Amino acid sequence: MIRQALLGIVVLCACLHGADGQALDPSAHLTAAGKSVPAPVLPNTAADSMPGRVARGKYLAAAGDCVSCHTRHDGEAFAGGVGFETPLGTIYSPNLTPDNETGIGTWTAADLRRAMHEGIGRGGRRLFPAFPYTSFTKVSDQDVDAIYAYLRTLKAVRYRPPDNGILFTQRWAMALWNALFFEPGRFKPDSTQTTDWNTGAYLVQGLGHCGACHTPRNMLLAEIADRAFAGGTLTDAVAANKARLWFAVNLTAVHNGLASWSVDDLAKYLKTGYGQRAGAFGPMVDVIVNGTMQLTSDDARVMSVYLKSLPAQEGQNHLAVAEQTKLGGTIYKARCEKCHMSSGRGGFLTGPPLASSAIVQADDPTSLINIILYGQGTPNTLSSNTWETMQPYADALSDDEVAAVSNYVRASWKNRAPAVKSREVARQR
Ligand code: HEC
Ligand code: HEC
Ligand code: HEC
Repeated sequence: MIRQALLGIVVLCACLHGADGQALDPSAHLTAAGKSVPAPVLPNTAADSMPGRVARGKYLAAAGDCVSCHTRHDGEAFAGGVGFETPLGTIYSPNLTPDNETGIGTWTAADLRRAMHEGIGRGGRRLFPAFPYTSFTKVSDQDVDAIYAYLRTLKAVRYRPPDNGILFTQRWAMALWNALFFEPGRFKPDSTQTTDWNTGAYLVQGLGHCGACHTPRNMLLAEIADRAFAGGTLTDAVAANKARLWFAVNLTAVHNGLASWSVDDLAKYLKTGYGQRAGAFGPMVDVIVNGTMQLTSDDARVMSVYLKSLPAQEGQNHLAVAEQTKLGGTIYKARCEKCHMSSGRGGFLTGPPLASSAIVQADDPTSLINIILYGQGTPNTLSSNTWETMQPYADALSDDEVAAVSNYVRASWKNRAPAVKSREVARQR
């Protein structure tokens, strides 16, 4: 009963990404000097001066990707109004600019800490975890205060986001949900690990909120702590009343995760959107363009150091394994081979490898189907210097054909994964 009430009300999630954010000014990068304290402290030499704190706050706001979720299409940065479609109706992100009436102009630094650390917003209302406070609770007081200082410097924008759907007035339920699933508390460094590892863990678990999408959730949509980073499903609003499913792959060292990636592969991917192993597409593009790309190379590296240290989290499926068909092979040869090669190893000037790819082998095939149907999907925001962007095949291939070529790549080059069915392709159209 309680479960149903909660399920009905608490529709997550930090992953209902519907945003169209703008990239922040890359000149805001801080230098990576002075990282010697064994604590999760980002490089900062001017914490006490106001300009230093504002610059740091801007950097941290990028690390938290606030702009992606708080900037509506064609709207002003941070003014809110992004609609997150859920089965319960739409929930809108609030205005974070310092306007007194519609934004957070009257907020104190303590108010922002309460929102980030406890999930309590204006007027004491309980926030929904569409706002990833379950991750942001780990961010230090000092860092939240720097974000506050930065947000104060934004131009005040008078804009009131639309009202939320009626079910979102049921905020009392969040008190229950929090009691069950939310553990407030700052990041605690692990003294047995290196400074790099700790800084990386702080960024990944806190502001980076990678687990909001990459960790599986339970029936009540809370992240399952002991399956951290084992891969999660999310929904992306593509148009009014239309959402598309995605799978945010397993980030641990398993065959359908990041086993084949080096620390450098991962760091380069986070810093540029491209690397030896993959190029970003779908909801990961905003995360990179507004988030990790704005970080220093050193911070992208330490995040990778931490992620590569995670224990392997095997999948739990026992589904039938994909088999190759003649149709799948024919399509691959005609449509895919020129970039991904017959060896599946891709090419420096053409595209990423499909052999040992996490996307190709994911138990949940939604992201694999999406890249085939829609291609890279976000022209102009990200482009590789060498590869030709992958084009959509939604019009060229039928559901059966997409399933056949998916199964072909899932069963080639030592890849192994469950079979994709054409009805699963149909669902992604
Ligand atoms: C994944 C999307 C997402 C990200 C990333 C995100 N927010 Fe939000 N935020 C939301 C949504 C949605 C709400 C509204 C939640 C609700 O109404 O219960 C919200 C609410 C808030 C509130 C409460 C405001 C109020 O009026 O009560 C604050 C403050 C806030 N966000 C600040 C931030 C900051 C600072 C960052 C970056 C460090 C950030 N958010 C990143 C989606 C996001
Ligand atoms: C809004 C949800 C979301 C968030 C937040 C997010 N990811 Fe992702 N991520 C995805 C999706 C969806 C994919 C699959 C599409 C793709 O590969 O581009 C993905 C793909 C990836 C891949 C590439 C896998 C491959 O083989 O192509 C890596 C690596 C990755 N994410 C790391 C991260 C890290 C590190 C963070 C935190 C800084 C993060 N992600 C935060 C949704 C998210
Ligand atoms: C013009 C070259 C080109 C062709 C043709 C092409 N791709 Fe791609 N593919 C790419 C590039 C480049 C990427 C990386 C994303 C991007 O930047 O577009 C990619 C990404 C992928 C990925 C994600 C891999 C990962 O681990 O992140 C898969 C899966 C994929 N392609 C499958 C296919 C299939 C199946 C076909 C044939 C139906 C195909 N591609 C045709 C260039 C191509």
